[in-house]
Amino acid sequence: MSAARTWRVLFLPGDGVGPEVTAEARKVLEVAGRRAGASFEFDTGLVGGAAVEATGVPLPPQTLRAARRADAVFLGAVGGPRWDGLPADRRPEAGLLALRRALGVHANLRPFRVHPGLAGASPLRSEVVAGGVDVLIVRELVGGLYFGRPRGRWPHPSGARAVDTMAYCTGEVRRVARVAFGLARRRRRRLASVDKANVLETSRLWREVVEEEAAAFPDVELEHVLVDTCAMRLVQRPRSFDVILTENTFGDILSDLAAGLVGSIGLLPSASLADAGAPAGGTRRSPGLYEPVHGSAPDIAGRGVANPVGAILSAALLLRHGCGLEAAARRVEGAVWTTLAGGAHPPDLGGGSGRPLGTAELGDRIARAVETGPGRGEGDEEALT
Ligand code: NAD
Ligand code: IPM
Ligand code: MN
Repeated sequence: MSAARTWRVLFLPGDGVGPEVTAEARKVLEVAGRRAGASFEFDTGLVGGAAVEATGVPLPPQTLRAARRADAVFLGAVGGPRWDGLPADRRPEAGLLALRRALGVHANLRPFRVHPGLAGASPLRSEVVAGGVDVLIVRELVGGLYFGRPRGRWPHPSGARAVDTMAYCTGEVRRVARVAFGLARRRRRRLASVDKANVLETSRLWREVVEEEAAAFPDVELEHVLVDTCAMRLVQRPRSFDVILTENTFGDILSDLAAGLVGSIGLLPSASLADAGAPAGGTRRSPGLYEPVHGSAPDIAGRGVANPVGAILSAALLLRHGCGLEAAARRVEGAVWTTLAGGAHPPDLGGGSGRPLGTAELGDRIARAVETGPGRGEGDEEALT
């Protein structure tokens, strides 16, 4: 039913390696959509430093209008040293934050895996990751320190005083908790809610609301973990986690820790959803925002060596959460792991057999694997997210 639709996807390639990895995600999306009998209408817009150069602002009104009209928005990355000296509201990152906030994408899904065939890429000892790691971080994305007021910088006898505010209300915690519990129910039914309730008032409210929400999900086992302990446990016993639910800043930091654990930040995808739980492919929903977890990687940009896997796996999340095309999403994920485990490696992963592959070469290999890979039902793995 949903396969017959045409999905409008707005691509915002952004800066640095953003355009390079986005091109590969688009390639794979096209092939996977064709195989699933779905069609896509692609549009492209400006965000971040690229938008600053062209229009003077990091999120031009026409980009926001196009994003609101789209069924899904796919973003590469924003930022770079060229724009680091700009006033806060004109920095590329401010464009991304404004886009997340304007689309109301409060639930940021960041799944990460150490695939059994890729354990060598992880810096952790093989017995720690043996059997594979498969964790989903659900990061609250439009609240907390990133958006709290007051915020600013004032003169101070010692020089200056700067303030950021971490604030959460019941409703903000409840809606993201509900998403995380719902996703845990479709996985291994374990939820770790991560906070700093031994110190922070926001965390004490967070814990209370998560406890209340747990009553509606008696089949999901809930534990509360302090964020510092969580960081340690992720390194020592990553397999002890299924779904991790946490606030904005903690989720930002823990997901880069997860990237280090897996072996490269180039491997991690994300999906940011406004109304997770509403049926994909049903009546009009707010568009989700799909982006790799990594940034613009200025140190390697323009050389065609960036790892496109995080972007390609974000395209799989778009198929799953944006279009309700679960089989197509799994086909893409299967193609990624088969290709990597077969020895085709980008430079950041090391190992592999033979010469490392460039961005487009690896994208082509994965697209070909999607084209020729098993159809519905065959070779399916457990649903990840
Ligand atoms: P980064 O993620 O861009 O890079 C960190 C390291 O990981 C670098 O060594 C980089 O080469 C490597 N790396 C990143 N993506 C890779 C890929 N696809 N393949 C191979 N290696 C990859 O983080 P940073 O250097 O701290 O930030 C650079 C800029 O990106 C900053 O302006 C920052 O604000 C921005 N940023 C944007 C996003 C986003 O757009 N979502 C996310 C993080 C950082
Ligand atoms: C991320 C990035 C962004 C964040 C920055 C670029 C605003 O680090 O998506 O993880 O902090 O959310
Ligand atoms: Mn980050």
